[in-house]
Amino acid sequence: MMNSGMVTAAYIIAAVLFILSLAGLSKQETARRGNQAGIAGMAIAVLATIIGDGVQSYGVLLVMVGIGGAIGAYLARRVEMTEMPELVAILHSFVGLAAVLVGFASYLTPEAHHVGTERTIHDVEIYLGILIGALTFTGSVIAFGKLSGKVGSKPLILPGRHMINLGIGVVCLVLLFLFIGQAPEAGAVETGKGWGTFILVVMTLLAFAFGVHMVMAIGGADMPVVISMLNSYSGWAAAATGFMLSNDLLIVVGALVGSSGAILSYIMCRAMNRKFFSVIMGGWGDASPSSGDGGSDEPQGEAVAITADEVAALCKDSESVVIVPGYGMAVAHAQHPVSELTTQLKKAGINVRFAIHPVAGRMPGHMNVLLAEANVPYDLVLEMDEINEDLSDTDVVIVIGANDIVNPSALDNPNSPIAGMPVLEVWNAKTVIVSKRSMATGYAGVENPLFFKENTRMLFGDAKESVNGILTNL
Ligand code: TAP
Repeated sequence: MMNSGMVTAAYIIAAVLFILSLAGLSKQETARRGNQAGIAGMAIAVLATIIGDGVQSYGVLLVMVGIGGAIGAYLARRVEMTEMPELVAILHSFVGLAAVLVGFASYLTPEAHHVGTERTIHDVEIYLGILIGALTFTGSVIAFGKLSGKVGSKPLILPGRHMINLGIGVVCLVLLFLFIGQAPEAGAVETGKGWGTFILVVMTLLAFAFGVHMVMAIGGADMPVVISMLNSYSGWAAAATGFMLSNDLLIVVGALVGSSGAILSYIMCRAMNRKFFSVIMGGWGDASPSSGDGGSDEPQGEAVAITADEVAALCKDSESVVIVPGYGMAVAHAQHPVSELTTQLKKAGINVRFAIHPVAGRMPGHMNVLLAEANVPYDLVLEMDEINEDLSDTDVVIVIGANDIVNPSALDNPNSPIAGMPVLEVWNAKTVIVSKRSMATGYAGVENPLFFKENTRMLFGDAKESVNGILTNL
């Protein structure tokens, strides 16, 4: 059994490791080390908590750790890279649900009751922890549904939705003031005020509804911001739980997750050209076309197909090639042949680079992770802002399973659901090859005029097979 000083020391070491982890994860070269620091920090934190003096029943604890660990290990082994975003979303929902349950437990445990100002502070901690946890829970469940295709990606726009959100916010604020100082059980003699549990239950139901409404109102193309926002909310829910339980490490970790998630949301908003504040409010300003059905981009002209050997010939004759990976590359597991293609083209003296859109795929950094896994050198992988201007000097752009992130209507159709989103301007290159299976739309469900441009050729088929076909013919 560790004494409280040793537990505090272990918590400080764990907190430092978490900070090092975040620092490491900010760059591809150091991401692996960042992950290791995070694992070490979490192992220390869990061990210190288990052998600290706060645990009373080891039997229950070990059974629960066993069940949770087994489910986690099973999911981690089974999950496909393409399913990672929805796994992350559902894990956020667990953090939210845990905050709700801990909040209720903390409120209903008699010895946890404080008096005076301390009691007021504790009540506010409980109330906020449950509120943030509840909306994170249902919001994340809906995000999981949208990412896995179980819930349609179209935004659900209820009439007067901002008034509904505002109404829920005001009622929750009023309930907070009513809640402070209430005893849990109705008719309690202690204070004469005994509606605490009832108020908490009403607020929790309202927060559940708010979480559903907030995420349902957001269209497919804007989901990246929601995911990072929910990531941030889950951190704040954990921090609030830390305050409830007087656990310093949980406060620090929650604040780290909350603030890094908020920064990521800001970066995502910039990448998608959306307003941060309107995201927090659960849906963009009414003026934004992404909130509505948007305009239609009827296909114009005819798409021209190309074969893998023709693409190989085009590549051989070019000086510069830019590869734009998207979600389809992840689905097809095409990253290894793509890496091999890069090696072959480089051997032939061709300048090959990758152009990465900030929201390519289904989670932040999705493409970077896949390319790193396939050992593509980091210095060939450029962010959208670094390479967009060079595209007009590029001979061949090969788009591999990407769609929304190379859609010109984001720039030239103000009624498009993705209007205003910066995109990779691949059509400025001499020739654009698009590798995908059909003429189907991408995640945002928007037609893509790129496919009908004069300098675009469609390489139909599974991306892995198509790239292997190019390789064979090189
Ligand atoms: P998408 O626009 O979703 O397009 C992917 C394309 O890949 C599809 O049009 C599909 O066409 C093709 N594809 C699927 N399987 C394939 C296969 N086996 N072989 C070849 N092609 C295949 O992807 P994107 O361009 O990467 O854009 C990302 C979208 O997801 C954006 O709308 C973004 O807002 C959204 N989103 C992103 C995130 C983050 S954080 N990155 C999170 C949530 C949502 P076919 O069916 O014709 O093959």
